[in-house]
Amino acid sequence: MNRAVLDSIRNAAPGILPSLLQCDFGNLQKEVEQLVSAGTEVLHLDVMDGHFVPNLTYGMPIVEGLRRHTDLPLDVHLMISDPLAYAQPMVDAGANLLTFHIEAVQNADDAADIARKIRRMGVGVGVAINPETSMETLGDCLDDVDLVLVMSVQAGFGGQSFNPTALTRISELRQRYPDLLIEIDGGINLDTIGQARRAGCDLFVVGSAIFGQDDYAVAISSLSEAVSGSEAVSGPATIDDSGEAS
Ligand code: DX5
Ligand code: ZN
Repeated sequence: MNRAVLDSIRNAAPGILPSLLQCDFGNLQKEVEQLVSAGTEVLHLDVMDGHFVPNLTYGMPIVEGLRRHTDLPLDVHLMISDPLAYAQPMVDAGANLLTFHIEAVQNADDAADIARKIRRMGVGVGVAINPETSMETLGDCLDDVDLVLVMSVQAGFGGQSFNPTALTRISELRQRYPDLLIEIDGGINLDTIGQARRAGCDLFVVGSAIFGQDDYAVAISSLSEAVSGSEAVSGPATIDDSGEAS
């Protein structure tokens, strides 16, 4: 299946992932074209069920429709009460990475079990955690996932203010799991993205700071410059041309 796409997502790091929550759903094809020409390498899709979170967005038909417009990896953030029930339909629709919330499952063992089942579907798997949820609830389930999504707002709505508790979480995760992909979502803009990078974050989900701007290319390149001007304090080792790790 398409777990190889996970490598494309890894290769996009450090990268800006536009969140298709505030885009023009009346013209998705044009929105995707604009994002692609602005240099986007991965799209972030916010699926909300009106139950796990009060907001309601979209499901498989939109994922499938997007898949017809682009070959970009689709990073699907499941803000739904029963992630496993919709995992295979989402994979069939074209999702490449499925991230479910730790708050939607009973405990860390269930999370590990769900993660293993999703992996067997041939896609990448991530676990997300809200700012109010103790990191201890993750237990050892991070050993079974490809990515952890550290929420810097309470999941459910775009346009909220950044919660800096995410920065401490990212630093600690980066120390403990040097190779884990770490993603942040919520309130990421030119004021906050550098801090997240310095804490060790790899993937930056951005809604308002792109879709609230007239020119997506300008917005994305400014965010990318802020990332490259902010070295990660520590992170996965990189290998230079001589084969030396740094
Ligand atoms: C919120 C979603 C986000 C949202 C981010 O629950 O998961 O992906 O679109 O939007 P901003 O960047 O506006 O906080
Ligand atoms: Zn999201």
